[in-house]
Amino acid sequence: MPIKFNKQNNKITITTKNTLYIMEIIGGRHLGHIYYGKKKRGFDPEFHYRCGSFTPYHENLYQFQPDLARTEYSYFGGGDYRCTSLKIKNADGNSVTLFDYKKHRIFKGRAPITRMPYAEVKDGDQTLEITLWDSHTECELKLYYTVFYDCDVISRYMKITNKGKNAVDIEKCMSLQCDLLGRDYDIISLHGAHCWERMYSRNPVRLGGQTIYSRRGTSSHQFNPFMGICRRTTTEERGDCFGFNFVYSGNFLGEAELGQEEGCRVQIGLGGDNFGWHLTPGETFESPEAVMTYTDKGIGQMSRNFHKFTRERILPEEIFENRPVVLNTWEAVYFNIDEKILLDFAEKSAKYGIDMLVMDDGWFGAREHDRAGLGDWWENPAKFKDGLKTFVERVKKNPLKFGIWIEPEMVNPDSDLYRAHPEWTLRCPGRENMLSRSQLVLDMSNPDVVEYLKESFEKTLGDVPIDYIKWDMNRHLSEVGSDFLPPERQKEVAHRYMLGTYDLYRWFRERFPNVMIENCSGGGGRYDLGMMKYSHQIWASDNTNPEWRTKIQYGSTVPYPVSTMSCHVSHPGDSIKEIDYRYTVAINGMLGYEMNILHMDDKVLSRIPEQIAEYRRYEELIKTGDYYRLLNPCECNYCAYYFADEANDNILLTFVQLTTDAKAKDIKLKVSRADLGATYVDKKTGEKYNGVDLRRGVVVTTNTSDERFCRMWELVKE
Ligand code: DGJ
Repeated sequence: MPIKFNKQNNKITITTKNTLYIMEIIGGRHLGHIYYGKKKRGFDPEFHYRCGSFTPYHENLYQFQPDLARTEYSYFGGGDYRCTSLKIKNADGNSVTLFDYKKHRIFKGRAPITRMPYAEVKDGDQTLEITLWDSHTECELKLYYTVFYDCDVISRYMKITNKGKNAVDIEKCMSLQCDLLGRDYDIISLHGAHCWERMYSRNPVRLGGQTIYSRRGTSSHQFNPFMGICRRTTTEERGDCFGFNFVYSGNFLGEAELGQEEGCRVQIGLGGDNFGWHLTPGETFESPEAVMTYTDKGIGQMSRNFHKFTRERILPEEIFENRPVVLNTWEAVYFNIDEKILLDFAEKSAKYGIDMLVMDDGWFGAREHDRAGLGDWWENPAKFKDGLKTFVERVKKNPLKFGIWIEPEMVNPDSDLYRAHPEWTLRCPGRENMLSRSQLVLDMSNPDVVEYLKESFEKTLGDVPIDYIKWDMNRHLSEVGSDFLPPERQKEVAHRYMLGTYDLYRWFRERFPNVMIENCSGGGGRYDLGMMKYSHQIWASDNTNPEWRTKIQYGSTVPYPVSTMSCHVSHPGDSIKEIDYRYTVAINGMLGYEMNILHMDDKVLSRIPEQIAEYRRYEELIKTGDYYRLLNPCECNYCAYYFADEANDNILLTFVQLTTDAKAKDIKLKVSRADLGATYVDKKTGEKYNGVDLRRGVVVTTNTSDERFCRMWELVKE
């Protein structure tokens, strides 16, 4: 059983396939953290009591000093001066928070979280529920630890119920705290901006603490909610590495802080800057879920733990046997949706082996440009003479699948919806609303807005045979206030916005169960586990320049499996070399095309069916294989990686050079998963390699003249 309680020493032990987590109930009231790391037989470490000056303690428990102890969860104003997990303002007006252990239980499966995405459990998974109590506020806190045994992942979430007579205000709430031993840690984070999302960065955890966060109402392009914490000496292949992530798509706070003497506290959750919750008597607040993993086998294995977890416990089931290779209209025609042109696109797409036509922005309301139409989700009758349904049926005759773009959470001031319901946008009394891309944000915390959207989409898409939806979101939140909520609940708006958005996602999934969803937020602005629960793939970035893409894709693979990455080949011009290079970059994820195929050279176009046929050979390996990063394009002029299947029978190795080198050099690409005694044939060239040579490294000589140098090895065991 993964979770055990030892009555003799009050220790609770959680095991996963390769990891061990130990805590102790101290003095009958505190939760002390003992260990999180490698599973070792017979290993039973003790809680480390630490006493010092200038640190408070309870009179009868001198040896437990919250400021020096490693704990499971921490409370603002309760004698712990580090960053803390929970801050509640009580009816007296102060925010001193303290909860005591009361009881715990261990049960099969997990506790569901209302209105939010969460990971699915399988047979053998268990949950630990620890109940704590604050006699002053009469609030009950439940901490949850769900164990995803075979993924080496443990998740954390909490529920707090006001059982008293007075309302209280939750001012900060973290889902996960982990007090690590030692101080020599680096933090790996993914930062960026629109068009350069998830740039990999690694820095020492500093004194004074380090944060990653979003105050934008989405998980954002600027920081991703993933944090890797590894030893200074950890590499891709070896060393301690912890991974943390948040199953949530809105504002978040991640903190890593060194203690005054030893230890490093890591936390992730909603934080307190853009979040608050007014908890009235009888009410329960539930936090989003956060997840953690550990390995002693380096950053690469941390990634593979999260990849497996995301594939098996988060992502929705595949709708189609193969991921459809799409042709998206955006970069070809922008807002100029024209029935005749699109039908030509459809015919030519089918001719060149493409599976699906995706009609992007511009098909609805008065959407001739980005200044009008959002909110009016009915087809523009001038653009579809015989209606949307007939148009889609014509496209599908080619035969082709059909996908459509929507942006439900937004409204243009120039729209019928805004004219009818200006009170349905996020807004604050006395403040002028700020625009971004000429649009305002709908108040998704208001159930009437969510209902309106359901009705609109039901009416417009209900009988149209769509196969795919691209769900976009093109601005960040400002004036985060709601006409629907009373003043004491205004700090809840950003979180309630996410709850309303998730309600709508769930409605789409239930109403259109055979429709695949691709998530997008101006590219990869909501690339997170929350969105992955409802979307099969995510548009990785609006930047399709191949050099940038290698960097964006590299960062994305650190926490997320490549099956989530939607990657399009765009604008190859009239060059076969260019379309091949862009394709090689794109099949680090799920392949698609985004270009005006009506005006392209047939020689270049004829590469498309060949590329798709090749991609289909690798698709399963790309979708489900184990992923090994070899060269980081954020740190050098190359990108290299490989996929291996479980039995090491099939290995796909890729090398991409970003620009030409001044001087050629030999680089060894070490395929550590090759079987030593085996011989592999490269299906592309017929060349043979034995396992020993593959492990020592396939040698590639970098290029000094070829701007578009890349290579792939399709290695199959003989
Ligand atoms: C931003 C997306 O990232 C693009 O792919 C495209 O769908 C536009 N929005 C449409 O407005």
